[in-house]
Amino acid sequence: MAARFTDKVVLVTGAGGVLGRTAALSFANEGATVAVADVNESSAKETVRLIDAGGGKASGIVVDVTSSESVQAMVDTAVARHGRLDVAFNNAGILGGGTPVGEHDEDVWNRVLAVNLTGIFLALKYETAYLAANGGGTIVNTASNLGAHWRLAGMSAYSTSKAGVSFLTRTAALEYIGQGVRINSISPGPIDTPMSYLPGENREQRDARLAPTVPLGRVADPQEIANAVLWLASDESSYVVGHDHVIDGGATA
Ligand SMILES: NC(=O)c1ccc[n+]([C@@H]2O[C@H](COP(=O)([O-])OP(=O)(O)OC[C@H]3O[C@@H](n4cnc5c(N)ncnc54)[C@H](O)[C@@H]3O)[C@@H](O)[C@H]2O)c1
Repeated sequence: MAARFTDKVVLVTGAGGVLGRTAALSFANEGATVAVADVNESSAKETVRLIDAGGGKASGIVVDVTSSESVQAMVDTAVARHGRLDVAFNNAGILGGGTPVGEHDEDVWNRVLAVNLTGIFLALKYETAYLAANGGGTIVNTASNLGAHWRLAGMSAYSTSKAGVSFLTRTAALEYIGQGVRINSISPGPIDTPMSYLPGENREQRDARLAPTVPLGRVADPQEIANAVLWLASDESSYVVGHDHVIDGGATA
């Protein structure tokens, strides 16, 4: 396959985590210089190290996506270091909840909404400003099928935040496509990352719980999700605008 991101600068948030790291490595393998952003400095450094080891180009940025100043500094730093920005994969997220609405911890609710939804809003705010003024680009946001597409008792904060990402994506896409900024989101089903485990669960127990909910019969390999992210970020999807791309093995088919 031809390298689709040669000479492009790609910003990935949550890039110290499993999906973000997988996507960051894939972007680098296809020629991109990757700005690896995460609140966890050591995991961001490890992603940079892995990209370096594979002969790619990357630098790490510590960001808290809930802070406007921090997100603005992230975009400014990526541009200052690498000269430009072409693609953003806004992917940082957390799980939270497990209790019915009536018993929901308010701090957990606020934290989940702040990271998963306000974090994407802030990233879009600064990325669209830069991209619209500098020739355009593409943005992919991470939502979840457990958002606008599915429901699970106990997951009100997470689902609400992720449904918000899907609709924020569609609105922002309409606002910026005229300026050459193409915005889409992904809504994955369960992925083989620590986030898909309940506390204390082993792989066999996780698979026994989740596989029956997926017609394909298994959780996703992170690369299967990253492949869709790269497609949405590349010119191959040039006519796809404001689309929330469900990748869930048929769970919501
Ligand atoms: N794993 C799944 O089953 C699944 C399914 C659907 C959607 N998702 C979504 O995919 C994305 C990636 O999840 P993952 O499974 O790779 O999880 P992960 O925990 O491995 O990665 C998430 C990353 O986000 C970072 N992060 C958390 N809070 C942050 C903040 N305030 N500022 C900056 N970075 C922050 C974490 O440090 C971590 O590196 C998340 O948005 C998640 O909600 C995951």
